[in-house]
Amino acid sequence: MEIIILPDADHVGRLAAAVIADEVRRKPTAVLGLATGSSPLGIYRQLAQWVEEGSLDLSHTSAFALDEYVGIAADRPPSYAAVIHREVVAPLRLDPDRVQVPDGHARDLEGACVAYEEAIRAAGGVDIQILGIGGNGHIGFNEPTSSFTSRTRVKTLAPETRADNARFFEQDEQVPIHCVTQGLGTIMDARRLVLVAQGAGKADAVAAGSGPTARTAPSARSRARPAASGRAARTAPSARSRARSAAYGRTPGTRTGRAASSMAAHPQTDVVPVGRAHPTWRSCHP
Ligand code: F6R
Repeated sequence: MEIIILPDADHVGRLAAAVIADEVRRKPTAVLGLATGSSPLGIYRQLAQWVEEGSLDLSHTSAFALDEYVGIAADRPPSYAAVIHREVVAPLRLDPDRVQVPDGHARDLEGACVAYEEAIRAAGGVDIQILGIGGNGHIGFNEPTSSFTSRTRVKTLAPETRADNARFFEQDEQVPIHCVTQGLGTIMDARRLVLVAQGAGKADAVAAGSGPTARTAPSARSRARPAASGRAARTAPSARSRARSAAYGRTPGTRTGRAASSMAAHPQTDVVPVGRAHPTWRSCHP
């Protein structure tokens, strides 16, 4: 895993979008993994701009969303199906027939989960998965303590996740209690992961995902494979230094004289120095 700390959300969006655009230019029929929430909005904005300018064509891709609330019809605004359509499918000009979101309104939820896994498999698996991370470290809606081998299933949202997401609902009581989410095992099957996090509120979650592997930190799972990338916007200095220290396996405050633009060193990772060597990043790195 590699953690790149950037000055602001715009840089994060541009860098992550460049990685995704590169994947699609290499493989126009790529299968994308989509996340909702605030974190990936900059990515979608940048991709939409390139599509609008004609330098990127996403119309041959397929896509699978990570998660959905249980009990909210797909055509209602807070549903993730509606969000994905509004913020991703339309502006990025994806083919709506090739974009799937878990069905949180199915009569047979368990059957729908199994069918979703089969659909991902039938599409050949996800080539590149976009991920955000919750303040408590959740990935998709895999809350802390989720099994690392889990597949798409119904989960209960943690109280802090419901509180965080209350901003998308008119009243707190309307926030669903349950969701359908791809499992950590499903997510880890993706060939590449791009996780974006912005703001001091995410620093502890990013740091936990970079430290010792624990089931209480779903993001830690992403270190178990080589192609995972972390993208973290610059946060408040103390939070930033915590995340960076964790990435280096150091206690905060013990780091000496090394550039901030560095990343996790882990025996299983594919470490690429920021700002050189990786052609995808040249065009957008600050
Ligand atoms: C959404 C998802 C969640 C969000 C997380 C962060 O599809 O998978 O894990 O990425 O809740 O949400 P934001 O970005 O709104 O802070």
